Amino acid sequence: MKDKAQLAVFASGTGSNYDAIDRAIKQGELDAEVAILVCDRPGAQVIEKAEQNKVATFVFNPKDYQTKTDFEAEIAKQLREVKVDWIVLAGYMRLVGPTLLSAYQGKMINIHPSLLPAFPGLDAIGQALQAGVKVSGVTIHYVDQGMDTGKIIAQQPVKIEEDMTREGLQCKLQEVEHMLYPKTIQQLIKEGE
Ligand code: GAR
Repeated sequence: MKDKAQLAVFASGTGSNYDAIDRAIKQGELDAEVAILVCDRPGAQVIEKAEQNKVATFVFNPKDYQTKTDFEAEIAKQLREVKVDWIVLAGYMRLVGPTLLSAYQGKMINIHPSLLPAFPGLDAIGQALQAGVKVSGVTIHYVDQGMDTGKIIAQQPVKIEEDMTREGLQCKLQEVEHMLYPKTIQQLIKEGE
């Protein structure tokens, strides 16, 4: 058995949370390794980031598979090969199906830019601004079959200032995400030892 927890990071986009996890590992704040990056969007920026770090990648286009079960079975095979302990969703903009959920129950977490259960799903930042709330924040939760509905592990509020732009709020939320995600992953790993 490898002594460090092996993470699979799932992402669809920019990968700033992937970067934050990678940075925390390099700085010795997170006792883990990214064993594989799984990405459902060929060409996404996060792929290049992982490749620069010589992290294995599994990039796929869901359209190349007939069903979610088919591509999740392939993902599960890739994860078994590198002996993944935890699945960390970091901007993976897709609902996880039963194939992966049953294989990694209680070992799959997600980060979301709102104080769940408020503003689940797409564009949580836009939803918060539209609603005019004074406080939003970041949630880390276990993944279940629902959309951002699993048991909450950690939350941190972020105050929405008067006249705050979308970019301004996103920047503040991401600052919190980049600190809270590695810290929470480390806590979960330690609790599981
Ligand atoms: C993050 O803000 C994450 O919370 C959000 O996507 C962004 C990905 O950014 N996830 C969701 O909205 C999930 N419902 P990144 O690619 O720069 O890490």
